[in-house]
Amino acid sequence: MLKKTTIKTIQKMKANGEKIAVLTAYDYSTAKYIDEAGADVVLVGDSLANVALGYNSTQSVGMAEMLIFTGAVARGVNRALVVGDMPFMSYNISIEDGIKNAGDMLKAGANAVKIEGCNDYILSLVKRLTESGIPVLAHLGFTPQSINTLGGYSVQGKDTEAAKTMLEQAEKLEQAGAFALVLEMVPEEVGKYITENIRIPTIGIGAGKYCTGQVMVSDDMLGKFSDYQPKFVRRYADIKNIILDSVKQYCLDVKNGDYPKENEVFHSEQITTQR
Ligand code: KIV
Repeated sequence: MLKKTTIKTIQKMKANGEKIAVLTAYDYSTAKYIDEAGADVVLVGDSLANVALGYNSTQSVGMAEMLIFTGAVARGVNRALVVGDMPFMSYNISIEDGIKNAGDMLKAGANAVKIEGCNDYILSLVKRLTESGIPVLAHLGFTPQSINTLGGYSVQGKDTEAAKTMLEQAEKLEQAGAFALVLEMVPEEVGKYITENIRIPTIGIGAGKYCTGQVMVSDDMLGKFSDYQPKFVRRYADIKNIILDSVKQYCLDVKNGDYPKENEVFHSEQITTQR
């Protein structure tokens, strides 16, 4: 019997000095294999806007899409903790809206939600969500939903003042009830500084080796998404070329009459083919 990973399991991993492996997934089969292969957390990231739906920005997806993809992933996962990413503007308008939308994520099958940023409003929301039984994975550093206010893709927390502000925010998110914290695109020194000074686990993406865990977009690490490759991505497979080679061979087989073969067709009793 597989033991389901909970937020307590994840927090104990930090206490025990164990690293946490997190990957994104957007569909049933990929989620199933990621779970079977041993990832601790499966994140249904709003990065699906870029890698699964072909948009330029994560701001292009809403609750409707996230609920469909979260349901598909949750149906594929037996053991890992499933986290649903709250999309742009699904939690920023009012606390009531945020709680309702996060509740819908849990109804779709997520075990927790992720929300980006930290200000007084976000802190109140994290507290209310946690009190309502909805665990929150916080997210600091580069927060893609704020790309327009941040002024583009860039490493965050690069000077001492910015690093101290980020640590203060991390501490407040922990106090508000966040069970873990994603740190995206911060210097390794900042990843270490924050990880060592808060109790909850940190999950880094471009945040160096000292974070409690690491997260990568599965389409990046599997070499399926090839439009661009951030510096922190390590490719473990070349799915793009597996697809290209397989589809080329299939097209050749169809055109040459090599597909289907005898073992790939159905037969009936003798039928009259003459009109
Ligand atoms: O949407 C996403 O995939 C994410 C991770 C990169 C942390 O937010």
